[in-house]
Amino acid sequence: MTDPISNTLLPDNSTVDDDGMLVIAGVRVDDLAAEYGTPLFVYDEQHIRSRCQQAVRAFGQGVAYAAKAFLCTAMARLAHEEGMHIDVATMGEAYVALQAGVPGENLVFHGNNKSEEELHYAVENRIGRIVIDSFDEMNRIERILDSTGGKVQALIRVTPGIQASTHDYVATGQDDSKFGFTVSTGWAEEAVERASSSNCINLLGIHAHIGSQVFSLDSFRRATEALAGLSNLFQLSELSVGGGLGVAYIEEEETLDIEEWGMTIRSVCSEAGVTARVTAEPGRAIVASAAVTLYTVGTIKELAGIRTYVAVDGGMHDNPRPALYGSGYETFVPSRVMDPRNSPITLVGKHCESGDVIVSNGYVPDGLAVGDILATPVTGAYGHSMGSNYNKVLRPAVVFVNEGSHRLVIRREELSDLVKTDVR
Ligand code: LLP
Repeated sequence: MTDPISNTLLPDNSTVDDDGMLVIAGVRVDDLAAEYGTPLFVYDEQHIRSRCQQAVRAFGQGVAYAAKAFLCTAMARLAHEEGMHIDVATMGEAYVALQAGVPGENLVFHGNNKSEEELHYAVENRIGRIVIDSFDEMNRIERILDSTGGKVQALIRVTPGIQASTHDYVATGQDDSKFGFTVSTGWAEEAVERASSSNCINLLGIHAHIGSQVFSLDSFRRATEALAGLSNLFQLSELSVGGGLGVAYIEEEETLDIEEWGMTIRSVCSEAGVTARVTAEPGRAIVASAAVTLYTVGTIKELAGIRTYVAVDGGMHDNPRPALYGSGYETFVPSRVMDPRNSPITLVGKHCESGDVIVSNGYVPDGLAVGDILATPVTGAYGHSMGSNYNKVLRPAVVFVNEGSHRLVIRREELSDLVKTDVR
C-alpha cells in the first residue's frame, strides 16, 4: 500500500488546499481540530443531505433514516428536513427525534423487546408505526389499549429465512434469530391474521431487515420476494425492506448505490404485482462516509521488525467496531492527504486493553510525528452512536461543516458529565 487515501472514502465535498491539507466543505480540518480539539467527528452536511435525497428518490414518501447509525437533534432535524421518516429502536431514540421537532407520526418504532413503558410512550406520542416483533408484544399493546382505548398503526416484522452474508452479529434475516415472526414456521401469517383482527391494531403492512453491511443485491432480492408473497396474500398496504446496504470502509470495498438498491427492490415488487407502498430504512448508507474522525498522535512505539504502534487520543470509546466486529478501517494524515502512504502502522487508542485497536493494518506517509493530526474516514455510522465512557473518557464532540462554515452539534463531554448520574 502506497497510494494516498481514495476520494471515494472521503466525504463528498472534500478538497485539498495548496499546502496539501484536507478541506471538508470549504473548511480546513486543521482549523477544526484547533478550534474544537480532538478526537473530533467532522460531518459533511451536504453529503448527508444528498444521501437522504437519494433515499427519497429511490423509495418515495415514508422512507426512514435508521437513527441508530448516528443520532442527535441536529441529525434528526436534517433527515426530517430532507423528507425522511425516522426509524427509532428505543424510547431514547424516539425522545431525541421528538426533541428535534420530528412529528411522532413520522417515527417508526422498532425493537424485539419493547417495554410497556416504551409502548405507552409510543401511544402517547402518536408514533406513526410500531413494528410489532412478537406475540408477547402484541399482548402488551392490547393490554395497554384496552385500558386507554384507541388503535396503533403497525407493521409486522417478519423473518424471511434469508442468510445474508455479513458478520454474524448483524445478520438478522435467518430463521435462527431473536427478531420477528418466522415465515417458515407459519408465525408470520399467524401474526398478520391476529393483528388484522385486533381491535387495537390498524395493520398497515409487513417489514423485514435481513442484516447490516450487506453487499449482495441478490440477498435483498430474495428477501423482497418473500415479503411480496406475504404482502399480496393479505392485500397489505405497506412493505418495508429495512436497511442494511453495504458501505466501503477500506480501499478494496465498493459502496452499493442507494438508488440502484431501490430499483432492485421495486422491480422485484412490480414483477410480483405488489400494490403496497414499498419503503426502506437505511442508516449506514446515509451517514457512514459523510464523516471522518480526527485524532492527535500521542505516542509512537517502534518495535523493529514487528510493528509500529501509533497511539492517539481516542480509541474503542469513539469507535468500538474494530474491537467488536473486527471491522477494517483506513487511516491517513490530513495535512498530507495527497502523499503516498509508505509506512505501515497499527493505530491504537488510549484504553487499558490490547484490543483497543482502531486500525490494525494502516499506512501513513513517512515521518509521522507526535502531535500530528491523524484521521480515519467512514466513521459517520455506528461510531459516535456506539461510543461509551469506558475508562471514564469524555465522549468526543461532533461538528457539521457546510459551505465554508461549521457548527458544533454535540459538544465534547466535560468532567462534570461523568458524575451527573451518580447519587452522592
Ligand atoms: N432497520 C432495522 C430494523 C435495523 O435493525 C437496522 C440496523 C437498520 C434498519 C439500519 O441498518 P443499516 O442500513 O445501518 O445497515 N452496530 C453495527 C450495525 C448494527 C445494525 C443494527 N440494525 C455496526 O456497527 O456495523
